[in-house]
Amino acid sequence: MSLLPQEIIRRKRNGETLGDDEINFMVAGLTGGAIGDGQIAAFAMAVYFQGMNMAERVTLTRAMTASGQIIDWSGLDLPGPVVDKHSTGGVGDKVSLMLAPIVAACGGFVPMISGRGLGHTGGTLDKLDSIPGYNSTPDRALFQSTVRAVGCAIIGQTGDLAPADGRLYAIRDVTATVESIPLITASILSKKLAAGLDCLVMDVKTGSGAFAVDMEMARELAESIVAVANGAGLRCRALITDMNQVLGRNVGNALEVAEALTFLQNENLDPRLREIVLTLAREMLDLAGLSADPEAALTSGRALEVFARMVSQLGGPADLVENAILYLPRAPVSKPCVATRAGMISAMDTRTIGVAVLAMGGGRRDAADTIDPRVGLTDVCALGDRIEVGQPLAMVHGGDENSTDAAIAQIRAAISIDAKGIPGDIILERVDAS
Ligand code: URA
Repeated sequence: MSLLPQEIIRRKRNGETLGDDEINFMVAGLTGGAIGDGQIAAFAMAVYFQGMNMAERVTLTRAMTASGQIIDWSGLDLPGPVVDKHSTGGVGDKVSLMLAPIVAACGGFVPMISGRGLGHTGGTLDKLDSIPGYNSTPDRALFQSTVRAVGCAIIGQTGDLAPADGRLYAIRDVTATVESIPLITASILSKKLAAGLDCLVMDVKTGSGAFAVDMEMARELAESIVAVANGAGLRCRALITDMNQVLGRNVGNALEVAEALTFLQNENLDPRLREIVLTLAREMLDLAGLSADPEAALTSGRALEVFARMVSQLGGPADLVENAILYLPRAPVSKPCVATRAGMISAMDTRTIGVAVLAMGGGRRDAADTIDPRVGLTDVCALGDRIEVGQPLAMVHGGDENSTDAAIAQIRAAISIDAKGIPGDIILERVDAS
């Protein structure tokens, strides 16, 4: 019997469970273009309202993975497992820049395919693009040879991996169907499965700066990703981590690269950033069956060496670590955002802080926008810090006086000062395969 998109949409709209043949048919039509945008949008909306059970999600994920190429690492004879981490996105989240070299220094191979900034959250790729000469879109041969030689490479998504997701995501983006757990699960995992990983650790963020604003949603997303990944043959576990404050001290593209470099040099380690990086590293190494100590890889400087080699292998300066100040672009205006009352930092509207950096040019309003890599924040205060009137809550770096002043006002309004302020844990929960 031939299948009809409108019948499949109707069945899902009515809350029925779709068969493998129906899901495969929709994904084939999505990939080849035989099904138009209207029917794809209606299908996405039906899934948004009715959901999908785990078996349907596994089938959707597998079909979307198979819509393009799958990277094969077997020919490279890598002497260790292929492992990655993916974060659902946050403000100041530069974890990948340190984590990938730490895990590589411990014997893992990390082909990290990262995204650009989405809304108020920054993207790893935009951060790396602030390094002059760094090629974030190398061809497959350079990507694979860098991973082989150095242990890690952080690059951008290519159109030949999970192309079904590329089209579906673009349609979801304009039809209010992004926030669907089954669709997010299939979207993230189809790209990860296409990258040919042995194992994946998910960092699902929750809080005022995260896509999952509450714990319930974060747990639902983490459980879905872990169950579907394992169901599709990818060893996976998740950490739910806090995004109720900026992660680390800096926000903004070049400024986050600078923070990552000082971190890898074991200087000015923000304790929350250190905890999340080392905890994620331990999870990745454990899942991959490696016993090396990530803390030793960091403190010995081996992870820094890996980062420096990755940068130069991908076209960046060979002396970036020694001469970061010469290479990383700097904003012309720097001003403090000072506290107007004394007390303890009690809350942060982290999303608003991300939006303030975006508005200075640190992120995109739409996909065609160009980024100003120089702008952002340094020395951002943390929850629980004691603050006096006139002390800086953050340093604000902008392209001109007006945009800097506007950001200062937004940031001041986004940070609450009260009699009490509790720092709060960064690692909230761990979700493993059941
Ligand atoms: N990131 C993705 O890659 N896909 C989604 O659907 C949401 C976030």
